[in-house]
Amino acid sequence: MTEIILHEPLDMHLHLRDGAMLRTVAPLSAHSFSGALIMPNLVPPVTDAESLRAYRQRIREAIGNEVFEPYMTLFFKPEYDLDFLAPIAEELTAVKLYPAGITTNSEGGVRGFDIEELRPALGVLSELGIPLCIHGETGGFVMDREKEFVPIYEALADAFPDLTIIMEHITDAESIAALDRHPNLYATITLHHLLITLDEVAGGMLQPHLFCKPIAKRPEDREALLNAALNAHPKVMFGSDSAPHPRHAKEAPGCAAGVFTAPIALPVLAELFSRHGMPENLQHFVSNNARQIYGLNPPKKKVRLIDTPMRVPEKYGEVVPMFAGEEIGWSIDAVSVE
Ligand code: DOR
Ligand code: ZN
Repeated sequence: MTEIILHEPLDMHLHLRDGAMLRTVAPLSAHSFSGALIMPNLVPPVTDAESLRAYRQRIREAIGNEVFEPYMTLFFKPEYDLDFLAPIAEELTAVKLYPAGITTNSEGGVRGFDIEELRPALGVLSELGIPLCIHGETGGFVMDREKEFVPIYEALADAFPDLTIIMEHITDAESIAALDRHPNLYATITLHHLLITLDEVAGGMLQPHLFCKPIAKRPEDREALLNAALNAHPKVMFGSDSAPHPRHAKEAPGCAAGVFTAPIALPVLAELFSRHGMPENLQHFVSNNARQIYGLNPPKKKVRLIDTPMRVPEKYGEVVPMFAGEEIGWSIDAVSVE
């Protein structure tokens, strides 16, 4: 039997939603991860201290006794200023910027993307040392949206050299290349973008449970992402972008975007890194890099993964996970908290 032991695994991009959905999905992440960066795209989005504190409290209630740190984010607004952000800076791990309308619940995001208009708010984030996470897609042709956003990332990185900028859920080779050109650019990569291309989504019968934003790209893009993750590129972190939607919202005309991977993420990552002969690098991808980049000190948790197959449930509540009903090669053997 082969094993991989992980310490303090972190998911640096996670959608937990709210209400009944939160109560279904939060314990699944809290079981095997030490912490996660919680996305603020609720309806309405998390834009003030009060809603942030209340949401963190609801997350804590949903996870019960699990040892798990919800690292909270605020939904970026150009109006944010020093008076608003300074008093809550300690309660925030990052601010998340969405271009308006680009993905689920992002209508209140940034319109037009004029750096001059954003300058005051971004200056405050830089001054307070709050990282800025960005959903980097333009409104262009769907396969080119991320590529077209790279110059915007680069302009931001140059304009705010002291601001930590995280390119969220990157999907193409151009984004990986940009990482190495700017000291203050970092990235998260999902599990699904390491595994699939557009072919798996739409090359045969349409697979709604693999439909997400940004859409999976070409084989050479997946190759570039895999290469960075497997080789423990120090500027890339695991962020699942696990994004649950009820089955009826996925298996429908107007299918909602999002792949639900939280409960299977660690075993599938273990299988992937092991298959490529890089098991020792998984620790960097799922924890060490994020700790370094964000300066986190997550609660202690040890996860033992083994190459014993498991069958993925068809559903968790109303949500269909990636690999539903299929066998995956690895499983979680034990989780211990020190
Ligand atoms: O596929 C996605 N789903 N991409 C996102 O950016 C948002 C997410 C969601 O919230 O459903
Ligand atoms: Zn997301």
